[in-house]
Amino acid sequence: MNIIDTVAELRSTVSQWRTAGQRIALVPTMGNLHAGHLQLVEEARQRAERVVVSIFVNPMQFTNVGGDGKDFERYPRTLAADCEKLGAMPAAPEVVFAPSVDEVYPHGFEQQARVEVPGIGDILEGEFRPGHFTGVATVVAKLFNMSLPDVALFGEKDFQQLLVIRRLTAELCFPVEIIGIPTVREANGLAMSSRNQYLSDEERQTAALLYQTLQEVKQQIEAGAEDSVKLCTQAMAQLQDAGFRPEYFELRRSSDLQPADPQDKDGILLSAAWLGEARLIDNLRLS
Ligand code: PAJ
Repeated sequence: MNIIDTVAELRSTVSQWRTAGQRIALVPTMGNLHAGHLQLVEEARQRAERVVVSIFVNPMQFTNVGGDGKDFERYPRTLAADCEKLGAMPAAPEVVFAPSVDEVYPHGFEQQARVEVPGIGDILEGEFRPGHFTGVATVVAKLFNMSLPDVALFGEKDFQQLLVIRRLTAELCFPVEIIGIPTVREANGLAMSSRNQYLSDEERQTAALLYQTLQEVKQQIEAGAEDSVKLCTQAMAQLQDAGFRPEYFELRRSSDLQPADPQDKDGILLSAAWLGEARLIDNLRLS
């Protein structure tokens, strides 16, 4: 496993692979790797001969809304441990690309050319974290151009992010296949996330209620409940009573995240809620 921190070296490695006709997969991450990230790497291994895992805490996507203004600074950076985890996998990637902020944004990111995905990038997460998806879309476009992958893998845990990336890939004509991977969860149902480490032991137990509430609402809709708006409002109140600070709990269409009816075939429940210092997001598709 080769750890690379410059774009020039990544390009030269990738260009040798391409000349040899090898298929390349990219797994973009911000590090502090957990079993969810490693699942993406396993899946990448199935789909390509060469795998690049990028580890880059992208300042452009941190919006600091609702937090203490320190979200970027305090984000866990654990490169050595991450490389150890990746290197120990039977599916270990060929390359870990871990550039500095200056390497990715040599002129700073305020004046950086940017990728916007209007519409889907402005609702839900985009509404509570304005500018977030522009930061995500811009860095993903840059990572695509740096590593020239045939396929890139993303988690359904960040369902809206996955749709934003599908849109930018299609509309900017990147020749990259986008694969979505189901959410990996703790035993109690909590979706794994690098931000879970901001939770105390007690909060970690409480945090499982987010997924439980999604499951309850899903069951009620599938049992024929028609007033999904009321169900979602009740779910918000239930989370609040349990100590969360919920931001949204919504039934949407999984194709475009526009409001859905309970009868819609492609419904998805999505929620974001603060618990203590951690902002949690999760989602659940209706059957
Ligand atoms: P990060 O939060 O590190 O997540 C990297 C990838 O892992 C994303 O595709 C995310 O959806 C996926 N992932 C996270 N938790 C998961 C879980 N419990 N199960 C399955 N997959 C999971 O998402 C980002 O980084 C950044 O926004 C990035 C795309 C790297 C751009 O900076």
